Amino acid sequence: MPSYDIGTIRERLAEWVEASRPYAASGRVASYIPELSKSPHNALGVSLLHASGESATAGDCGKKFTMQSISKVFTLILALMDNGEEEVFRKVGMEPTGDNFNSMLKLELVRPGIPFNPMINAGAITISSLIRGSSPEEVYGRILDFLRVLAGNRQLSCDEAVYRSESETGNLNRSIAYFLKQNGVLSGNVEAVLDVYFRHCSIQADCADLARMGLVLACGGLDPLTGNRLIPRRYVQIAKTFMTTCGMYNASGEFAIQVGLPAKSGVSGGILALVPGQYGIGVFGPALNDKGNSQAGVHLLEVISRELDWSMF
Ligand code: DON
Repeated sequence: MPSYDIGTIRERLAEWVEASRPYAASGRVASYIPELSKSPHNALGVSLLHASGESATAGDCGKKFTMQSISKVFTLILALMDNGEEEVFRKVGMEPTGDNFNSMLKLELVRPGIPFNPMINAGAITISSLIRGSSPEEVYGRILDFLRVLAGNRQLSCDEAVYRSESETGNLNRSIAYFLKQNGVLSGNVEAVLDVYFRHCSIQADCADLARMGLVLACGGLDPLTGNRLIPRRYVQIAKTFMTTCGMYNASGEFAIQVGLPAKSGVSGGILALVPGQYGIGVFGPALNDKGNSQAGVHLLEVISRELDWSMF
């Protein structure tokens, strides 16, 4: 993999953002969580952070957005750190579904009725129930603290309006959670588990925060900027594999071909991606394609990967 100096990337990044921004026009901002529909349709920003600490940014990279499904990568890691692999994979599988992220179809159709993977809503809700804590507040607090450390001790917080909006309208997620409870997959109080899930999806970040978190994953769990090991290497390996196979939902195959990097998207339009050993990447573009991934953001990552020859494959 050739490595390009950050100066070259800085020179070209704004041009790539502006070439990708028009793609937002054919996307749609998510509205099933009503508060998200207020997001700026044409926004597009990117932040890249190298293991040396040097960064490159362009476009609307300073805008804040909720992490949504991107947080699932980190709740999975926390659940693995709390319980170990064996326990976690008794409750969730390791396979892509080919279905929408909020589908509950296979829970009924395919034995043993556990979620196919931790990146779909059913899997992530189950993961929320596995994170240690004596109350939903304590569990959520541990998730927030973990993300803060990964973001380089940034003061992250929950977007209360988005949280309330999803909590008040999340009937499909409630159906999934009660179905999982009935099947014995989810233990504990269903509403308490959902509360943790809705809250961690509503944690706010910007592109630089995602790039900082992505850099820790890119470096196998060792924060290259502090020298601290934040995550055991094995759990990062698991998380990055899920990002590659399921991180862009049922567009993960196409994304692997066109971009070829581990990535995780969120319905707010964020994408966290990484170049192994080199870069953490944060992208924000709220207009989504029909699979729920940022329309312009995916295009931008395709351009960056092609121009810099970053595909892992
Ligand atoms: O549960 C939900 O539907 C949202 N809180 C998260 C979904 C999501 O981000 C899927 N993204 N593409």
